[in-house]
Amino acid sequence: MRVLVSGGAGYIGSHTVIRLVQAGHDVVVVDDFSNSKPTVIARLEGLTGIRIPVHVVDLTDVDKTEQVFAHEQIDAVIHFAGFKAVGESVAKPLEYYQNNLDSTFSLLRAMRRHGVHTLVFSSSATVYGAEPVLPMTEDSPTSATNPYGWTKVMIEQVLRDVAASDDALRIAALRYFNPVGAHPSGQIGEDPSGIPNNLMPFVAQVAVGRRESLSVFGDNYPTPDGTGVRDYIHVDDLAAGHVAALERLVAVDPGLSVWNLGTGKGVSVLEVIKAFERASGRDIPYQIAPRRAGDIAASYADPTRANTELGWYATKTIDDMCADTWRWQSSNPNGYPD
Ligand code: WQD
Repeated sequence: MRVLVSGGAGYIGSHTVIRLVQAGHDVVVVDDFSNSKPTVIARLEGLTGIRIPVHVVDLTDVDKTEQVFAHEQIDAVIHFAGFKAVGESVAKPLEYYQNNLDSTFSLLRAMRRHGVHTLVFSSSATVYGAEPVLPMTEDSPTSATNPYGWTKVMIEQVLRDVAASDDALRIAALRYFNPVGAHPSGQIGEDPSGIPNNLMPFVAQVAVGRRESLSVFGDNYPTPDGTGVRDYIHVDDLAAGHVAALERLVAVDPGLSVWNLGTGKGVSVLEVIKAFERASGRDIPYQIAPRRAGDIAASYADPTRANTELGWYATKTIDDMCADTWRWQSSNPNGYPD
């Protein structure tokens, strides 16, 4: 299939582009480079050996988005593009609602105009809200504690209703747990701008000497070692999950299909630190800090539905995730060049 990948120069999008090409699909990237760099495309072309068409478009522009479909024969869409920083969404709710919803509306309108019936949407375990029952299953109730999370809940509802209105449509929402790691080549990886919000990139920057030490946000949670527990999933496993969902959609009933993409295992902050020290051979200095507002004690998936319906399984361990992250970060200490 010829697949339009929105946000294809981003962290998860770029890894998915590689998996799509390896699976024999054609890709067209749409990215406005607001949270990624053109260098990523050059790295992808080097890794895949093919030229990757890129349209630099703000997806909230309905006309410009439709123009991409007019110029490219698109068979399916994987929609990654969107603002995704929880803290920033609290400070800028209007920008988050407008950007994340309008970009989705533009894509859905262009798909309808050009007869494209297959869509995979990048959702998130954040839709399970503040007090999830563990392990989270796709039938768990959804809610949110911040505007970013609400955009994911709302977009899933839009997709459910749009899919119900047109039985030609087959749409998947993939709920990621905590994506980490990097392509084994070390050439692409997570490159947050500014101070990393998330644990793994922050730890990697401490290991490579860009940050002095890590603040562990709380060690008095009701977890085995008192620190936060999360279901970390390797970004390459996540990318494989997108290809599996895309290819499964041609055979499922019309409507919205929802799949958790997680390992089903919880790992604590202190366990991540120890794993990263093993992988990098570097000491990760840390200090215990107060809990971060909005954090939950533990989050991990029940991935049974993705395992049985997609034939997809997470394959990589936390040690693999740290080793691949370290290879990326040590090869690119300051991330991607401009
Ligand atoms: C993981 C653990 C922190 C940083 C977020 C978003 C979620 C999704 C994934 C988009 C927690 C602890 C972290 C640090 C720390 N993103 N931590 N020191 O919060 O589980 O999920 O990213 O979909 O929507 O909410 O990930 O990596 O920020 O935190 O101790 O400097 O590490 O308290 O226990 P989180 P995270």
